[in-house]
Amino acid sequence: MTKPITLSTLRRMKREGEPIAMLTAYDAAFARLMDQAGVDVLLVGDSLGMVVQGRSSTVPVTLDEMVYHTALVNRGRHRALLVADLPFLSHTTPEQALMSAARLMKEGGAEVVKLEGGTPQLETVRRLAEAGVPVCAHLGLLPQSVHKLGGYKVQGRDADGAERIRAEARAMEQAGADLLILECVPRPLAGAISAELGIPVVGIGAGPECDGQVLVSYDILGLVPAESRPSFSRDYLTPQGSLAGAFAAYVTEVKGRAFPTDAESFH
Ligand code: KIV
Repeated sequence: MTKPITLSTLRRMKREGEPIAMLTAYDAAFARLMDQAGVDVLLVGDSLGMVVQGRSSTVPVTLDEMVYHTALVNRGRHRALLVADLPFLSHTTPEQALMSAARLMKEGGAEVVKLEGGTPQLETVRRLAEAGVPVCAHLGLLPQSVHKLGGYKVQGRDADGAERIRAEARAMEQAGADLLILECVPRPLAGAISAELGIPVVGIGAGPECDGQVLVSYDILGLVPAESRPSFSRDYLTPQGSLAGAFAAYVTEVKGRAFPTDAESFH
């Protein structure tokens, strides 16, 4: 049987320059196909609020819903590492974050918990790491803060914004984060952060220099209206004609650095 992917595997992949292929998963059937196609990391993203539940943001997603979907995905995988999102306002204090992480890990089977946010989340990341909870930080565009940000916009385009994200990325690593997701930031900024940090940096709309790529699986399968598909995503289903083929093509293109191109990046 193939060896399960762990955080050490991801660190080795970063060191050896092998891109990490990550996709969002929400149920056992998709998780099984992704796992068999060689996807390294499955993310139970709170994007499920939008793509599965049909809501207009991730804000209403509850911890119970995250635990439920994490458990479904856990049943479908054998090899891929399982990361699950702490939903909006489930980590307002380090204590609350610990309780929420406990549910994702004990009931859902998550191996890593992901949380959105920069400086205000540092203490929480520290506490989770001290308690032995593997953490994936998430910087750049923070969909849970969509109402505060005034929409889904590229982050770090000006010098101050870029420097803030860079400093927060360093601080997250120092606080004990094991992984970092950078969402919708300019390609040069994501490249610089990936080169600087020791932990693996996985990008979504962050250009090809990241240590890995993640996409919302429903976006690459045409399961969202065409006008809602982000410009940095790619249709993998139409050319392949099957779900298994689409996931395998995504893995091949991420590993071969054929995805994303410069045109699928921000500047
Ligand atoms: O919820 C999610 O799917 C995510 C990805 C967009 C990284 O956080």
